[in-house]
Amino acid sequence: MTEQGSRATAGRDIVFDDVSVVYPNGTKGLIDVSLTIPEGQFVVVVGLSGAGKSTLIRSINGLVPVTSGSLRVGETEVVGVGRRRLRQVRSDVGMIFQGFNLVTRRSVMKNVLTGRLHAQSWWAKLIGYHPPADIEIAFDALERVGIVEKAWVRASHLSGGQQQRVAIARALAQQPSVVLADEPVASLDPPTANQVMRDLQRINRELGITTVVNLHFLDLARRYADRIIGMRAGRVVFDGTGEQADDKVFEDIYGRSLTAEDVSATPTQVSVAGGDPAP
Ligand SMILES: Nc1ncnc2c1ncn2[C@@H]1O[C@H](COP(=O)(O)OP(=O)(O)OP(=O)(O)O)[C@@H](O)[C@H]1O
Ligand SMILES: [Mg+2]
Repeated sequence: MTEQGSRATAGRDIVFDDVSVVYPNGTKGLIDVSLTIPEGQFVVVVGLSGAGKSTLIRSINGLVPVTSGSLRVGETEVVGVGRRRLRQVRSDVGMIFQGFNLVTRRSVMKNVLTGRLHAQSWWAKLIGYHPPADIEIAFDALERVGIVEKAWVRASHLSGGQQQRVAIARALAQQPSVVLADEPVASLDPPTANQVMRDLQRINRELGITTVVNLHFLDLARRYADRIIGMRAGRVVFDGTGEQADDKVFEDIYGRSLTAEDVSATPTQVSVAGGDPAP
């Protein structure tokens, strides 16, 4: 196992120190996880179903409570933090889900503007008022994921890939320093999955937003990650670069031989989808 990102902690690093999560029914979600994710890194977390990928990601914004150890997001200790502080952490952490989690009967713009709610006064929320500056931020976010022309379309009228881009724009509208994505491309076809991964990679590079993505396709993990973290049964069992994560490494992480299900694309689709950034 190689260890990356172990430099002295800077202001906005995410630092897991001996973190364990035990669910109320006794199931161990994470066991003694120690790692540092430096600000601006693009991390992909891989592992079989039940390995602890979602638990790891959700512990970062307190969606899953850590039962022992210390977890810091920037300057803030997340473990045992009060509700007010936790809200602050969450406002700085954008979250993207497999199922997009949009309000599909509402317009794309309305969905993206929900990313601004944390910054609004109670009366603005009450009457549904959005200051022009927030609308500008929302437009800018939609521009970054290439769907600004869909701003006034009902979210339900978009394709899956477009809906996921709206979800990315909503996270961006928060102006977060961290984006967490839990299997963001699991319900998309391979070319669309690549487009969404390229969007995530672009905002990571252009805006320096630390990005942690759970994936189960090893080809996508290798293509987009600065760093791959492999998990098995709640523990980190690999920590290295995409080049270091060869098939043997993935077999070790999965504890079995690789199958066609472990890659997103057939060989022809790989060449169609390509690895080069979209123009
Ligand atoms: N709310 C919960 N209550 C009890 N156990 C849970 C809960 N959520 C997850 N677990 C258990 O914790 C372990 C890790 O689950 P987790 O959801 O983090 O895995 P995962 O790697 O994200 O899997 P998948 O690929 O299926 O999404 C599993 O054994 C799972 O059954
Ligand atoms: Mg999961």
